Amino acid sequence: TGHTALDYGFVNTAATKSAITYIDGDKGILRYRGYPIEQLAKNSTYLEVAWLLIYGELPTADELAEFDNKIRRHTLLHEDLKRFFPALPHTAHPMSVLSAATAALSTYYENESDPNNPEHVELNTIRMIAKLPVIAAYAHKKSVGQAFLYPDNSLGFVDNFLKLNFGVLSEVYEVNPVMSRALERLLILHEDHEQNASTSTVRLVGSTGANQFSSISAGINALYGPLHGGANEAVLDMLGRIRDSGESVQRFVERVKNKEDGVKLMGFGHRVYKNYDPRAKLVKESADEVLEALGVSDPLLDLAKELEEIALNDDYFRERRLYPNVDFYTGVIYKAMGFPTRMFTVLFAIGRLPGWLAQWREATRDPQTKIGRPQQLYIGAGERNYPGQG
Ligand code: CMC
Repeated sequence: TGHTALDYGFVNTAATKSAITYIDGDKGILRYRGYPIEQLAKNSTYLEVAWLLIYGELPTADELAEFDNKIRRHTLLHEDLKRFFPALPHTAHPMSVLSAATAALSTYYENESDPNNPEHVELNTIRMIAKLPVIAAYAHKKSVGQAFLYPDNSLGFVDNFLKLNFGVLSEVYEVNPVMSRALERLLILHEDHEQNASTSTVRLVGSTGANQFSSISAGINALYGPLHGGANEAVLDMLGRIRDSGESVQRFVERVKNKEDGVKLMGFGHRVYKNYDPRAKLVKESADEVLEALGVSDPLLDLAKELEEIALNDDYFRERRLYPNVDFYTGVIYKAMGFPTRMFTVLFAIGRLPGWLAQWREATRDPQTKIGRPQQLYIGAGERNYPGQG
């Protein structure tokens, strides 16, 4: 073990080179393929950014139209796969449903999932971008006990997703353009974030030669945890608990600082950002705008702002350079849109999907990629004899 460096949490170890996403955590900079996140969030669309991440350049108008068309053509789920949902309890968490159904999706394409076959990879890239949002919406519908809708392929990506989530069979669904644009922006902000835990999981699983479905369902499971994507759900739960307990925000912050019962300020802190998370800045700007446009007022937004204000002026958070991350304000917006709290991390997953696909592709095409296989420092017992032996 003389050559093995110990690095819990890979704080100092790069596992790959990558040309996809650039982050400067001290300055609060995030760029996809060189383009600042602020410009993309303002001007681009989910599918255009997906193309950018996956293929490396912005698409031409024709390329984008063709991509969009292909995705619309692949939205249907096999009817048998739809019967997978009723087999799960109605209390099932939508993230578990999403990862399980994504793994199950692969069983329909077993002869077309060779990671070394570029046509298969292309086809499954389209399939996943088309079908995972449908699975996500069905996970939502199931959790509220409503009938599944068929995708409406006359609609663009985000509008179709909104209709699948909020439309009901007997009524015409009118897409609210404010909500549609706001969701599109949020999805763009989540599309990639270099080697975070779920993306590293996707790459690690991919490094074994596993296909895209297996790699990405593993990534979804990694995202589920409250220290990662699950934080957006945890933030809303935390805000709700503070409100219901009647505890003052100041007192809650004291408990966080004293690490009482391991309580953390969810939606704060980041491994890479030691400055304001640029995504959080954009989300915070949107929050007021979107709530106002949707005619929603939510005391939890005021509570979140109060919490942020207190934390940013407190030495504990200042010394540790803890700022709000992307998950701090997103939940308030998702809630205003009508998504149940348990759908928040699913929305993160749909946002992150293009990044996972791009990173999986980059890793599998990099001739330097090897199977991921960390070392350990052994600290267990030395050799000893089984009773009766030796
Ligand atoms: N509340 C209170 N204290 C915190 C927090 C927090 N949210 N985050 C970090 N700290 C403290 C931590 O206890 C430690 O203090 P000390 O030196 O006294 O032990 C110090 O700050 C350094 O933290 P760390 O745990 O070593 O940092 P890390 O890079 O290992 O963890 C993190 C990063 C994001 C897991 C962590 O900040 C955290 O748990 N935050 C809350 C969960 C969260 O919001 N996660 C979403 C991350 S962003 C989007 C995503 O990935 O999904």
